Formats: sequence, structure tokens, C-alpha cells
Amino acid sequence: MSQIIDETIDFVKEKLQGAEAGHDWYHIERVWKLSKKIAAKESCDIEIVELGALLHDIADPKFHNGDETVAPKVATEFLQSLNFPSDRIEKVVFIINNISFKNRNEAPEDLPIELKIVQDADRIDAIGAIGIARTFNFGGFKNNLMYDANIPPQVGMSKEEYKKSNGTTINHFYEKLLLLKDLLNTDSAKEIAEERHQFMLSFLDQFYKEWNVD
Ligand code: ADP
Ligand code: NI
Repeated sequence: MSQIIDETIDFVKEKLQGAEAGHDWYHIERVWKLSKKIAAKESCDIEIVELGALLHDIADPKFHNGDETVAPKVATEFLQSLNFPSDRIEKVVFIINNISFKNRNEAPEDLPIELKIVQDADRIDAIGAIGIARTFNFGGFKNNLMYDANIPPQVGMSKEEYKKSNGTTINHFYEKLLLLKDLLNTDSAKEIAEERHQFMLSFLDQFYKEWNVD
């Protein structure tokens, strides 16, 4: 493995010590592996893909009072310290700035393949069994309700409806997780997502059955 990747791994592990379990080093490691798997079928700059994957959650605005400037700054300073060329730093920072589901309508139409790959990998790690586990972990971390039977969830719920629902963990499936498979960029990601999406649907069926003590 290249030295720059090795040093980046050490840096990210150090930075994410004590992170919430859904956004910790193991999330990064899965996204990095998924990115390499997807990248194997695409023509792309693999070093940019790997660095983008490793650095994409280095300072998530969710955990930095909504400040979106911290992550690009931290990543830039780190890559500069390795004497990584500035035009290539820009490419990595572009991934960090545009990967998020929240900003999906603001991203430029014609995305670089390296961003598409890391975005797909991050989205795949948000669905399936791991996606379910991460979501309940985050909900617990925020002390949210798991579910509220008085507010029936709907696919594509608006922000207002979601807020009214008190942001229950089950509602996060309808707000985001069930929408992800249709937002994927690459064919290999779409293929990986299929089984994971079905698994979430079965999980929800079973959850309601047990909740209602049917
Ligand atoms: P992105 O960076 O793609 O905008 P986030 O970092 O907001 O996505 O979300 C990543 C993961 O964190 C989600 O897939 C989910 O597992 C968890 N998460 C985020 N917001 C919530 C929420 N309100 N309730 C439960 N889980 C959440
Ligand atoms: Ni992520």
C-alpha cells in the first residue's frame, strides 16, 4: 500500500477516536473497501477515490455545530503536510464537500467519477443490516424515540412532516434510507444495493409485526 494511504489511515483513526459508532473508523474502513470494489469496474483515479473515502467524514458538520468548513480545512492541511500536490488536494476536497445526501440537489450535474464512487460507497453503508444498525445507534446517541405509532411514516416525507414526527429512528428509513437505492450512480453499487434494500423492507415488516404484537 502506498505511503500516503498508510499515513492517511493513521491520521483518520486518530481523528475519529471516540466518534459515534455509525461515523467511526469502521464506517470509514467499510466505505474505503466499498469504494475500491466499485472503482475496480470504473475508469478513475484510484488515489483520489481512496483519499476521498478515507477523509470524507473527517469532521462531519453534524458533530461540529453544523460548520461545513472544518472538514475541507482539516483535510487540506493534512494533505499539504504530506506535500500532496495542490491540484490533487482540490479533487479530494471536492469529494468531501459534495458527498452528502443533504446537499444532493446542490451538487453540479456533471459529477467527477471519483465523487460518484465514494458517494455510492457511503450510501451503501447507510442501507442493509449495517445501515439499520448505524441508524439505531445514531437514534440512541440522540436519545430519539425508535418509533411513534401515531405518526405513520411515509416514503419521501417532507422535512416538516419529519420534524413533526420528532425524528424517530423508524422515520429516518422513510426520510432517507429507502430512497438511497434510486440515487446511486454506478451499476456495481446498484447491484450491491438490491439485497440490502430488500433486507430493510423485511426488517420494517417484522418490526411493525412485533411492535403491534400481532
Ligand atoms: P450524509 O452525510 O449522507 O448526509 P448523514 O451523515 O446525515 O448522511 O447520515 C449518515 C447516517 O447517520 C445515516 O445513514 C443514519 O444511519 C445516521 N443518521 C443520520 N441522521 C439520522 C437520524 N435523524 N436518525 C437516525 N439515524 C440518522
Ligand atoms: Ni460517511
